[in-house]
Amino acid sequence: MEKVKVCLIGCGRAGMIHARNYAGKVKNAELTALCDPFEASLKAAAEEISVPYVYTDYREAIKNPEIDAVVVVTPTGLHREIVIAAAEAGKHVFCEKPMADSEEECEEMIEACRKNHVKLQLGFMRRFDKSFRRGKELLDAGAAGAPTFIRSNTYGPSEPKEWMYDVRRSYGPIGEVNSHDFDTIRWYAGSEVKKIRAVGHNFRSPEKAAEYPEYYDTCGVLMEFENGVIGMISGAQYVQYGYDSRTEILGTDGIIKVGTQHANSVEVVAKDQVCTTDSIVSWRTLFTDAYTAEANAFADCIVNDTEPEVTGHDGKMALRMVHAGLQSILEGREIEL
Ligand SMILES: NC(=O)c1ccc[n+]([C@@H]2O[C@H](COP(=O)([O-])OP(=O)(O)OC[C@H]3O[C@@H](n4cnc5c(N)ncnc54)[C@H](O)[C@@H]3O)[C@@H](O)[C@H]2O)c1
Repeated sequence: MEKVKVCLIGCGRAGMIHARNYAGKVKNAELTALCDPFEASLKAAAEEISVPYVYTDYREAIKNPEIDAVVVVTPTGLHREIVIAAAEAGKHVFCEKPMADSEEECEEMIEACRKNHVKLQLGFMRRFDKSFRRGKELLDAGAAGAPTFIRSNTYGPSEPKEWMYDVRRSYGPIGEVNSHDFDTIRWYAGSEVKKIRAVGHNFRSPEKAAEYPEYYDTCGVLMEFENGVIGMISGAQYVQYGYDSRTEILGTDGIIKVGTQHANSVEVVAKDQVCTTDSIVSWRTLFTDAYTAEANAFADCIVNDTEPEVTGHDGKMALRMVHAGLQSILEGREIEL
């Protein structure tokens, strides 16, 4: 195979990040088709990036023998159906996180890809971010000794959309913002989670409290892994100052700190002694290069016939942690897994 011919399914916010990468920044792949049932989204995408094929129905797209792989970036509730259909049509699959709505669905998706001998890579792009990767390399090289306590925070600025206030649908920030922290901590811990206790509270949208009493915008999650490592997540959505993602691995011999809120290393100290720096405002800017590296890794694993670095199992385990975290908040107790 010369270049992997990719069809993007779902041309929304995250989909267009992938489209722009596959349209020129991925050595072993090219964007061949766009698919979205909403004409306006499809038209806007096709006007920005010209491709040989456009589809409003993914079932038509996956019949095209020229297409080798699909990148599924639809609302999460559709991932299972599309991934299984694509696998059965012999297409390699990249699927955005969260993988699906339940672990059973994840298993069906993994099985469909296995049975049809196609790759399945999940969209945890932090694993391809330079800093997060370097953190892992250093940890594995023993730079801080063995991991003991891993703390990861992500605070996001987006104002929740109406459906997100219903945490039974959105999972709240644990699902919307912090599913990446679960994956990162599990990756660094090198183990599976055993127990989770989480708490959450709504601080920034009190006007929604009567209609959505379960809604929380801020949460703390404490976890114990099978190998004894302790994990902790602090999460929040609709923070007012920018996008803030940092992780710290305390080891037996040292500490590894990953990430910063600073957009660059420029600092201004003015005559009133106030010190300012540019700060990160969005995940789109913080992880621009990570998305490109993630797309390159997907194409490479197809061309070289190797295992994807982030698998369906990783997607399933992250989902398990998100579900247990929300259950712990709602039931006010520790969840054993
Ligand atoms: N990795 C990340 O950090 C990250 C960031 C944002 C979103 N996501 C995930 O990506 C997915 C999409 O999120 P989004 O924010 O881009 O949503 P979005 O609503 O902006 O985009 C979804 C798109 O899918 C299209 N769509 C709906 N039904 C379809 C179908 N049957 N076939 C093809 N297209 C269909 C919609 O028209 C829309 O254009 C979600 O699973 C989300 O959790 C991941």
